Amino acid sequence: MCGIVGYVGPQDSLGVVLEGLRRLEYRGYDSAGVAVLADGQLSTAKKAGKLANLEKQLAEADLPAATIGIGHTRWATHGGPTDRNAHPHVSADGRVAVVHNGIIENFVPLRAEVEATGVEFTSETDTEVVAHLLTATYRALPAGPDRLAEAMRAVSRRLEGAFTLVATHADEPDTIVASRRNSPLVVGVGDGEYFLGSDVAAFIGHTRNALELGQDQVVEIDRTRGATVTDFSGNRVEPTAYTVDWDAAAAEKGGYPWFMLKEIAEQPRAVADTLLGRLGESGELVLDEVRLSDQELRDIDKIFVVACGTAFHAGLLAKYAIEHWTRIPVEVEVASEFRYRDPVLDRSTLVVVISQSGETMDSLMALRHARDQKARVLAICNANGSTIPRESDAVLYTHAGPEVAVASTKGFLTQVVACYLVGLFLAQVRGVKYADEIAAIVDDLRALPDAVARVLEQMEPVRELGRSLADANTILFLGRHVGFPVALEGALKLKELAYIHAEGFAAGELKHGPIAVIDQGTPVVVIVPSPRTRESVHGKVVSNIQEVRARGARTIVIAEDGDDDVLPFADHVIRVPRTPTLLAPVVTTVPLQVLACEIADTRGLDVDQPRNLAKSVTVE
Ligand code: G6P
Repeated sequence: MCGIVGYVGPQDSLGVVLEGLRRLEYRGYDSAGVAVLADGQLSTAKKAGKLANLEKQLAEADLPAATIGIGHTRWATHGGPTDRNAHPHVSADGRVAVVHNGIIENFVPLRAEVEATGVEFTSETDTEVVAHLLTATYRALPAGPDRLAEAMRAVSRRLEGAFTLVATHADEPDTIVASRRNSPLVVGVGDGEYFLGSDVAAFIGHTRNALELGQDQVVEIDRTRGATVTDFSGNRVEPTAYTVDWDAAAAEKGGYPWFMLKEIAEQPRAVADTLLGRLGESGELVLDEVRLSDQELRDIDKIFVVACGTAFHAGLLAKYAIEHWTRIPVEVEVASEFRYRDPVLDRSTLVVVISQSGETMDSLMALRHARDQKARVLAICNANGSTIPRESDAVLYTHAGPEVAVASTKGFLTQVVACYLVGLFLAQVRGVKYADEIAAIVDDLRALPDAVARVLEQMEPVRELGRSLADANTILFLGRHVGFPVALEGALKLKELAYIHAEGFAAGELKHGPIAVIDQGTPVVVIVPSPRTRESVHGKVVSNIQEVRARGARTIVIAEDGDDDVLPFADHVIRVPRTPTLLAPVVTTVPLQVLACEIADTRGLDVDQPRNLAKSVTVE
């Protein structure tokens, strides 16, 4: 949500900033803008809509050549997605330009204070107040090498809420400053050039060397002095340097029409990478990044899994596996509800926070709440160096590589696999499973990348089916046991991408309401468990297919190879390889991703950037 780019160096800053904004498009936005500084003057351009609108304006505006610049893609919160509300926001005297990600919660009194000095606001945003405050604060400070950074610190101390701010000042031709609280920001360090980005994708084409910024810190980037980091009081802080292990090619489409299709296709590799190095030769699990002692893990008597969106569905699946393997009770909750409910947490509670981006604000706040209550926190995350893993006691990276499409696919599959690893690891440490039992499951996990690859080889009929469903008004998804979270995920994908009303149900709930929705021709997707699943769950789901079909539904059945019981009642059968019950979601989810993608594409929609959605939701 909102993308921020900054640049100081020898290159044409406008080109670098626009390229960075393009790479951050996936975060979701509805307007964009840039500011460059040349000859003591700031020049800005900003436009509602996609980057193409901004580029058109730039072609007419003819901004001066510059080597320092900032840029922004905005996802509207305070004030609609208009030209006026687009960032950068410039102070009334035209000397300061600011871009912002987050929400300044006390902007109303601050705005009143600024207005009382005679300043007229030109936008409805919370951000504009920062531009006015910065220019006034800068003016009041004595000249000095870190005058702009000091002004930024002073203003930041007055702000409440979440923010990443990046600012330039017309009197500072060699400097940009940035401030960070709760919202993401990383510094890229090139050869004589420096970058700022909401994430490393912004500058990955230029450098892989990055600096992590901590909470409540200000960074000053100076052309000759480089990056200087302080806290909000001005105390020097040594930033942590790291090397980004993603390459630029991984963030490009690689010949696919949509990033989402590329990411779906990458899933066998991504799942293999999540497992890589974690499965020992003799079947034991090796999780080096878990920095909790064995004793702490043995003391755990309850697990909460908290996450948002698709990651929440991975959490629902974690419950089935972790409870079954460890016999530890697991509760799963959407992060935005978790802390308001006052959950019972203590030292023997493990809170697993799942987040692809590592920046989702609700998940971060849930994590902090858990830590305040002394619970142990383990993050399952994809983005290296992001906030959630940094603030957790232990981290399991999914190593899925960059996920650019807003709707999560390989992020989800690898989160599910990481949850299996956590469950098995706990079972191993706590001694509740024999080594050979764990080794057998490890073998099953090793087979998953191939199984996913086999599903992907058979997707043409699914695409054809998707094209025939493009005009549907409602599509229902049914599943039992682990098929239930898969049904929820299938419905979410369809809503996100195709804007079609879709709902996922526990198949057993069918007769308590959902069945009333079924009409002649209503498409119903049913995720059928393996016939080998215990307690005749399979038979019950086959009955559910008959029940919806008897009421006119068009039944689309996902069933494992060789399951012929479904044939008499299925209008369409999508086959998946035989996979052990608890691991089956890794294969059954894949056709649902492809289906949603194809339906959206047929409807002429933007698959990678669905309307109103953002890749990482960095506000509550
Ligand atoms: C947004 C994205 C979803 C994602 C969710 C959680 O809603 O559009 O695709 O599942 O955030 O994101 P996270 O980065 O925390 O996994």
